[in-house]
Amino acid sequence: MVVSSTPTKVTISDLIQINSVDNIFGSSQPAKIFVVDDHPFSRMMAVDILQSDGYKVIESDGSSDIIETILAESPDLILLDVKMPNYNGFELCHQLKQDRQTKEIPVILMTVADDSQSRLKSQEVCADSFLSKPLERMVLLPEVKLLIQRKHLYEWLEQMQQVLFLIAQAIDKRYSQEGISCARVDQLAQAFGEYLNLSPVEINDLILAAHLHDIGTIAIPDAVLLKKEALTPTERDLIKQHVLIGEKICRPLQNRQGIAEIIRHHHERWDGSGYPDGLLGNDTPWLAQVFQILDIYDALTSKRPYKKAFSSEQAITIMLEEKDKGWRNPELVEKFVDFLRGNNS
Ligand SMILES: [Fe+2]
Repeated sequence: MVVSSTPTKVTISDLIQINSVDNIFGSSQPAKIFVVDDHPFSRMMAVDILQSDGYKVIESDGSSDIIETILAESPDLILLDVKMPNYNGFELCHQLKQDRQTKEIPVILMTVADDSQSRLKSQEVCADSFLSKPLERMVLLPEVKLLIQRKHLYEWLEQMQQVLFLIAQAIDKRYSQEGISCARVDQLAQAFGEYLNLSPVEINDLILAAHLHDIGTIAIPDAVLLKKEALTPTERDLIKQHVLIGEKICRPLQNRQGIAEIIRHHHERWDGSGYPDGLLGNDTPWLAQVFQILDIYDALTSKRPYKKAFSSEQAITIMLEEKDKGWRNPELVEKFVDFLRGNNS
């Protein structure tokens, strides 16, 4: 695999600017829109506008189970009336946005009462848009197009992330038939991140980094990576390149820069003897320091072809020894040990 030295940076706004979203996703399927409105005339009007623009439309007057239909049909967008005899659109939208299965489906709320209070309420329930009735073609269609493009874009980015994970797993299996225990590292990152009061985004960066941090080893030849004899200084330098290559691979993930930073610095040491930049103390980004602790503990307590799995207490002993050598942030190691012992007691 050739890794470009100047990765193309693609931002979300760049992609949304592309005229035909089908160019990106290669999909010729019309998007599916679910129109929910108890008023027959306004429902028919919405259906007509959307169908005339090529969308596949399903509709409901709100008398049947809306959630059941959404789960069965997986629409690309929901156009939802606020006031219906059996449903309150605000409450339904709130419910959809709280549910993992439906929260990514864009919801446009529509009402005849276009007042500031209703608009505020629509924001509170995380509606993606708010339109007043009667719907106008020139207002509705651009809004629908933008929201569906955004949904497809996020789905595509999610798929790309999965591809990256699979590549990273395949790389891990080159030198460990077991691969990394993803679920175990994810749980550890989640629990220790919460213990340190990290934000959900920071915890998520730690979890993604657990999957991707050694992706740069893709560019290291097997003859070096799998060599059983002692490495030459040149080979050691080559292996050290994996942090820079991994950073380049993940740098285009523009909205997740924390991950690229963790990947670059996951082999730094507290006393400055690490690589690639020889950073001293807290010059190493905080998340990279936290990740390093998790990664080392996971490596020590996992079985590898060249070593047995150490117990948690054996791993703690080794990590405390490394702390005493000056390699790790002493305060952070102590916190991690407290966290582990607290959890195990
Ligand atoms: Fe590494």
